[in-house]
Amino acid sequence: MTPELLVQFSTPAGVAALDAAAELADAPPLTAASALRARGLPPDLAAAAHTQAVLRLRARAKFGPDAAVMFFTRPGLEQATRSAVAGRRALRLAEAGVTRLADLGCGVGADTLAAARAGISVHAVDADPLTAAVAAANVRALGLDDLVTVACADASAVDLSTVDGVFCDPARRRGGSRVFDPRAYSPSWDFVAGLRDRVPRTVLKLAPGIAHTLIPAGAEAEWVSVDGDLVEAAFWCGPLAVVPRRASLLGPDTQTLTGTGEREAPVGPVRRYVYDPDPAVVRAHLVAEFASTVDGTLADSRIAYVYGDSAVPTGFARCFEVEEAMPLSVKRLKAVLRERGVGRLTIKKRGSALDPDELRRKLRLDGPAEATIILTRVDDAPTVLFATPVIRSRA
Ligand SMILES: C[S@@+](CC[C@H](N)C(=O)[O-])C[C@H]1O[C@@H](n2cnc3c(N)ncnc32)[C@H](O)[C@@H]1O
Repeated sequence: MTPELLVQFSTPAGVAALDAAAELADAPPLTAASALRARGLPPDLAAAAHTQAVLRLRARAKFGPDAAVMFFTRPGLEQATRSAVAGRRALRLAEAGVTRLADLGCGVGADTLAAARAGISVHAVDADPLTAAVAAANVRALGLDDLVTVACADASAVDLSTVDGVFCDPARRRGGSRVFDPRAYSPSWDFVAGLRDRVPRTVLKLAPGIAHTLIPAGAEAEWVSVDGDLVEAAFWCGPLAVVPRRASLLGPDTQTLTGTGEREAPVGPVRRYVYDPDPAVVRAHLVAEFASTVDGTLADSRIAYVYGDSAVPTGFARCFEVEEAMPLSVKRLKAVLRERGVGRLTIKKRGSALDPDELRRKLRLDGPAEATIILTRVDDAPTVLFATPVIRSRA
């Protein structure tokens, strides 16, 4: 898509093209393109309308019904915050008294739209002209023009003297691939990390793998998962910080665990139940806090499986009943699985270098039974646990 084609989508011909493309969103691209051209659409408009229809369909998972009227670029959709996560953040910003927010690197506008819906005025900027135009189109499509201005600009050129909050979600991709080193972020890490000195109410959205050493002094570091998938880290700076560490688990029943991130869980033997904490709990270094909620212990001080004597209903972890624990030997494991007639094996692991697919090949599984094994370490010794999922794991 080009900015010119995006403008065409607001004309009657463009709207008709989008409507026609929506009906063909599931069709193979060539079939859809020729069907649209057969309706008299110029090839570039037909192709762009079909791309929008496909992206709108894909965007439903992140944006729900709003996706049907929004505009996307492929990278913009990939990088966009899910509306459930953005909405929650926006409410917290509004409750903390933010009234005018700068969204620096707004992408297609997921966080901008959520903030505006929470009643916050937003000045959104993106350095990429097409992305900024898409964000502006989304603001219009959702009727939020009164609260939002969108500009194509470099974040470093934005006057922050008129805002009382800053949100920055730097680009973590270059040439289509992800970058993991914060020094490769855009805007640069130095710029991003310095924002809180200019506007104390600053929130930074970062990759979930961000190093704890980069958490600004006094900031709250939050890790967010949605239905068990770890989606982001956020650093809440200045007066926005409430606790040192937070794990937020969004899903049917949203739950939050907080703590210092510095506690150590007690260590003991393997017990009847093993809990596999949500990745947000693990990344936030809140395993000890979680363990205390189930009266749990670790079996190895460096591995985040928590063991307990009962299956306490919890939304912070999946729980398994341990049937047997044995020292890891592939030969022995193969013999046991053969004996039990296991043809389908679920392999979970923490603290094991074994590759589950390779192990499955070596085990030559055969038989009608199913089983779950957990590869881990107990007091540093490679161990395999035979385990059964405890179905009711949510509180
Ligand atoms: C991760 S995306 C933001 C996604 C957005 N929060 C959303 O949910 O839709 C980062 C954006 O920052 C923009 N960007 C990168 N460097 C920038 C800079 N120096 N100034 C302004 N925008 C920049 C990119 O074009 C990209 O759209």
